[in-house]
Amino acid sequence: MPARVTVRVPAKVNVQLAVGPARPDGFHDLANVFLAVGLYDEVTAAPADELTITCSGPDADKVPLDRTNLAARAAELLAARYGRSPDVHLHIAKDIPVAGGMAGGSADGAAALVACDALWGTGASRAELLDLCAELGSDVPFSLVGGAALGTGRGEKLAPLEVGGTFHWVFAAADGGLSTPAVYREFDRLTPDAVAPEADPSLLAALRAGDAGALAGALSNDLQAAALSMRPSLAETLAVGTAAGALAALVSGSGPTTAFLAEGEASARKIADALRASGTCRSARAAASPAPGATIVSG
Ligand code: C5P
Repeated sequence: MPARVTVRVPAKVNVQLAVGPARPDGFHDLANVFLAVGLYDEVTAAPADELTITCSGPDADKVPLDRTNLAARAAELLAARYGRSPDVHLHIAKDIPVAGGMAGGSADGAAALVACDALWGTGASRAELLDLCAELGSDVPFSLVGGAALGTGRGEKLAPLEVGGTFHWVFAAADGGLSTPAVYREFDRLTPDAVAPEADPSLLAALRAGDAGALAGALSNDLQAAALSMRPSLAETLAVGTAAGALAALVSGSGPTTAFLAEGEASARKIADALRASGTCRSARAAASPAPGATIVSG
């Protein structure tokens, strides 16, 4: 068995997030078009006397280090499934904004699962790993597979999507996070007549063609109005990125990170500079998509 295993895992942006009415179980049916982007966390698993977590990176102080962390829950779930104790130290090198609508917590859950599976030699199949991911959270299966996928159900049922080129993005992190359940509750309040969600064929065609202009015209996020209602200042960030040449601007998932689709790398750099200079966000980073899912990088 390896002495330690490190797994790299990407953030995501939702290029379409169509949300239906609340279900009896409290979740919402989605047509959720996930795109993995090249901003990564790394999770390292090493043997330990008991389950412990440490975290490094600019947002490390905002990451819970107890059993509520999805990485810890992933280790516990895998250990329980294979009848062993979850004695592992997990280190999270965090680069994905925390509570930002980019699935950073979900990414760490998927990465911890893959890392512990390799460290312990449990040899779980891909299908088993995907089932465990879905138990951990709606976005966790996508963090495992990466690339691009249509998520239905609560987002956990995935169908891979073809992407015909590289898309260039800028992501602006905001101060503080937004609670995903609270954003969904605000969506319910604002959208009493929500209808069954459906994937947009023109958006899927734009992804397939690798056509950034067409994708810009098709981007949509049904949670955006709710996120803006809870954090009105995000409208200024969106306006700054648009004025700096973004083809389109939207809230990422439940926010408060905002996402800007750029024509290319040079344009992305210009948009990021303008966002940083504007003082309307905490940081601005360029990243390309699609990106691969959770991958063992050492061990
Ligand atoms: O699945 P996950 O634990 O990530 O979901 C967090 C919360 O987001 C849920 O408790 C629910 O309030 C909301 N949610 C939802 N519908 C979804 C996914 C998440 O209402 N499809």
